[in-house]
Order: sequence, then structure tokens, then C-alpha cells
Amino acid sequence: MQINYLRLLADLRRLAKFGQVGRGVHRLSFTPEDREARHWLLQRMTEAGLDAQIDGIGNVYGQTKGVDKAVLVGSHTDSVPNGGWLDGAMGVLYGLEIARARLEAGARTDLGIDVISFADEEGTYRALAGSLSFCGHLSEADVEVATNQQGKNLREALSEAGYAGRPRVTLDPSRHVAYLEGHIEQGPRLETEGKKIGIVTGIVGIRRCHVTCTGQADHAGTTPMHLRKDAGSALIKCCHDLIQRFEQVRSPDSVWNFGHIVFEPGAGNVVPSSARVLVEFRDVSEATLDRMQAEIQAAAATANGQGGVGVQSTELIRISPAEMDANLAAMIEVAARGRGVPSLRMPSGAGHDAMVLTRHIPTAMLFIPSIGGRSHDLAEDTDAADICLGIDVLADTIRSINRKI
Ligand code: GLV
Ligand code: MN
Ligand code: MN
Repeated sequence: MQINYLRLLADLRRLAKFGQVGRGVHRLSFTPEDREARHWLLQRMTEAGLDAQIDGIGNVYGQTKGVDKAVLVGSHTDSVPNGGWLDGAMGVLYGLEIARARLEAGARTDLGIDVISFADEEGTYRALAGSLSFCGHLSEADVEVATNQQGKNLREALSEAGYAGRPRVTLDPSRHVAYLEGHIEQGPRLETEGKKIGIVTGIVGIRRCHVTCTGQADHAGTTPMHLRKDAGSALIKCCHDLIQRFEQVRSPDSVWNFGHIVFEPGAGNVVPSSARVLVEFRDVSEATLDRMQAEIQAAAATANGQGGVGVQSTELIRISPAEMDANLAAMIEVAARGRGVPSLRMPSGAGHDAMVLTRHIPTAMLFIPSIGGRSHDLAEDTDAADICLGIDVLADTIRSINRKI
């Protein structure tokens, strides 16, 4: 099996044209550019000789024909707003290139390579929707309630895309012997520590909450300060309190983000009648996440009623931390050593489809360095040599899986 690096890099650059913004991409799930990218990928899989389809949730899935067992390789091709060109895309095209190289080599093995681009990993509508669907964890009711920031629901988006009503592809534990996902690190550790391959030990749990303040709109020039029911100031104070509370209960790995805030009605001369912040927090330990969540509730309860403003918190998302398969991780480590490059065992602070798959089949992830640790930004990039090294290590890992089954 001979990996064609130039073809892999050309495919990555071609995929980055869909929704291109500068050197990055703006390719939100089910937008025209995301759908065009999916269609291009479908064609590329078919040309490679895979049995390919786009399913009822938008997953692009290419199966190796004529085999009973396969390693599933993939990731996602949607992006965050103004995201990078490699986040997700690279793991999918690693799968495509390895499957293609295997078929070109005359496919002397019975172990196939199935390739998948999971829909909406980034959560424009519902984070990890494609992998949840693939593993049987996304009901029609879930599809109904998932909405984007503009209030459009996932059902409508799927209908517009022409995917609604198609069958959904599903994991076949008797066929899929393992799931492997190659990804850029999206942080600075590999680069800082001079390592080339990250071997993911586990993936953080992720929770999101809204904290909402409800006060009263008034004229911001004429209403004396002591008479205001100012939802905006109440929310700012509550967020400040929350940061201090998080500091008290955090682990060294804990992170949090106040990623989106809205003041209504949103004018300089109107006291905000309501204000809402989206708080996300992550850790590898469920117990730490529970402690952080309790602090959100306590901060809201403490602020509630002060200055005539009601404060409440609502949980939106809860994704449990996930461990990767130790045997597969060891195989990646051996493969990296075989290529003569230093590797690092590390947790992933980013969420990935692998966290869903690992509940069902042996699953592993490898990281390659991100330049400057940058990701979820147009600036995201990785050296071409590292992209090529990553696929070599992944392909070697598949070779050793093949020898073991
Ligand atoms: C995915 O990129 C995430 O970690 O939110
Ligand atoms: Mn991402
Ligand atoms: Mn990703």
C-alpha cells in the first residue's frame, strides 16, 4: 500500500475551497458550501472504488466492497464559523487516501477501510449529530429539537439539503473492528514539547449552560441607578462571581469559556430587560464537571433577586468524558516509534466523534502538531511534512491491526 502524499495534499486543498475564507473555511453544517463539499467527497469516494452514499443525517460514508471486516477511519468536514482548513477535514481525507491506496495495491488483505465524514460535529445544530446517529443515539425527536442560532431546526435543514427521508447508516460491530481518527492537535503541547505525534488517552467531557437574567427595560438616561432592574449588569456580576468560583473547584485541566452573550433589547440608551450568556466548561473528570456545574447553580441562586433581577441557569449539553482504547493507543505509539519520531500521550481538550464511537468499538485518535497551537480560527495550519507523517503513522497502525486479526 503506497500512500500518495501529493494526492492527499491536493485533496485537502480542494476541500478547503468549499467555503474558503482567506486560508481557512467558513463551512457551517448544511449550508450550500457544506453540501457541495459533501457532494465532492461522495464523488471522490466513488472514484476511489468505495460504495459511497450520503445518508439521512448528512453523513458521507464509503464502504470497501467485498469484505466482511473493516477499520472505520474518519472525522468531519463541517467547520466552526471562520474555522481552519484541517479541523476534521484531515481525518476524513486520511481515511480516503488510505482506502484508495489499499485498493490500488490490489487489496491483498481481507480487512477493508470504510471512510466516514460525520455530519455536524461542530454543533451548528447538534454537536456530534452524525456520530450519534451512526451509533444509534440520535432519535427523530432529537432531530426535531436541534436548532441553529437563527432558530432553524435540523429537520428543515435536512429537508433543504435533500437528505431527509434517506436511510441512516449505522455502525456494524460485526464489521467495524475499530475506529481511527487522525486530527490536528488544535493546541500548543506537541509543538512546545517538540513531539510529532500525540496519542490520545481520553477526551474531555463537555457541558454547556445558559445563565439568564431577567429585569426590566427602562430609559438609560432618566432612570436613577437605584431604581433599575438591570439584567445586563446583573449578568456581568454573576459571570465575574462564576469565574472566581470555577477557580476554587477547577482541576489543572479544567477550562471554561463564556462564548456567547446577548443583551436585549440591545441599545445604548435602554437598560437591558434580559441578558443571557452561554457558558461551556470541560474536564476529563465527571466529578470536576459536577463541581463546576454546582458552582453555576450557586452563582445563579446567589444573584437571583438582587437588584430586582431574576437569575437562573439551564443545562443545555452534557457529554461525558471518554477513554480511548489502550491497545490501539499502544499500536499508534509503536507505529510512531517505527517512523523514528517522538510521541506524547495526552488527553484531548477538544471534542471529537471518537468520543461517541469509543462507547461501542475499540477507538483511538492520533494528533499531529498545530502551528502556534492555533485552531478554530482562519489562522489554523500544520506543516505539510507533519500531515504526511500523520497518515504514515495511521497507515502503519492499520497494518498492525491487520496483522492482529
Ligand atoms: C470541537 O471542535 C469542540 O471541541 O468543540
Ligand atoms: Mn472543531
Ligand atoms: Mn474537529
